[in-house]
Formats: sequence, C-alpha cells, structure tokens
Amino acid sequence: MAKILLLNGPNLNLLGSREPARYGTTTLAQIEATLDRGAREQGHELVAAQSNAEHELIERVQSTKRDGIAFVIVNPGALTHTSIALRDAFLAVGVPFIEVHLSNVFARESFRHQSYLSDIAAGCIVGLGPIGYELALRAACARIG
Ligand code: DQA
Repeated sequence: MAKILLLNGPNLNLLGSREPARYGTTTLAQIEATLDRGAREQGHELVAAQSNAEHELIERVQSTKRDGIAFVIVNPGALTHTSIALRDAFLAVGVPFIEVHLSNVFARESFRHQSYLSDIAAGCIVGLGPIGYELALRAACARIG
C-alpha cells in the first residue's frame, strides 16, 4: 500500500463554477472523491491537498518524503508557467510526479505553452478534463507497481 498525493494549485478550488465552458462543471471535491475511490481499489491511499499559495504547495512537496508519499499527481494551475521554486522543490525531493492540466494549454495563450515542470515530470496529461486525473492515477499505480 502506497500513499499518492493529489496536489492542486491556485484557483482549482473553484472548479465547477470557474469558466465552466473551459474547465467543465466537475468540482474539485468530486475529482478528489473519484481518485480516492480509485486509489483504494488499487490498494493505495490518496492524500488530497489544494492551495492558492505557492509556499504551501512547495511545503507539501518538501514534506512528501516525511509524509511517506510515493507519487504525486499535480495540477499546479498558473504556477506551472511561473514557478521555478516549485520546480526546485520537486528536484530537491526527487518524488516522481505526473503533471495534469484540464485544458489543452497548448491550444491557449503562448504563455501557457511554457511549463517549469514538464521536463522533470514522469509524464504529462493535458486537455482531457477531469478524466486526465483518473488516467494519471492509473499511470501512478502502474509505476508504483
Ligand atoms: C490549468 C491551466 C493553467 O494554465 C491555468 O492557469 C489553470 C488551470 C488547467 O488545468 O488547465 O489554472 O492548470
């Protein structure tokens, strides 16, 4: 049994009501419940966290080893495109992670095409909506073995 951290960044607490045409109507609570169920079915434990604060996300990544987290599924929101500090936290800890985006960031503004995490991620899933998180969980469980 392994612990998997589902980490969501700024504004993802507003899923369900935030730009529904772009991000859909599924809430973060629903996504977390689906992944919690899926993780338990695979014999693992899901730990879910969301923060609008960069330093809280960094602290979560920093404490993955202490918290016994084997794998992270992360949607860093806009911090994807700005946060060298979040990248450095992942590099410092070395915990494997999958980067998820609900929208197809490559079909949007050019500033969203840049990610400070993609090249150090185990994989990236973009543009598939909430199913992207479920696919990331499947991949994480396969990696954990
Ligand atoms: C997002 C894409 C980001 O560019 C944006 O800032 C978000 C959501 C996504 O899931 O599509 O907050 O990460």
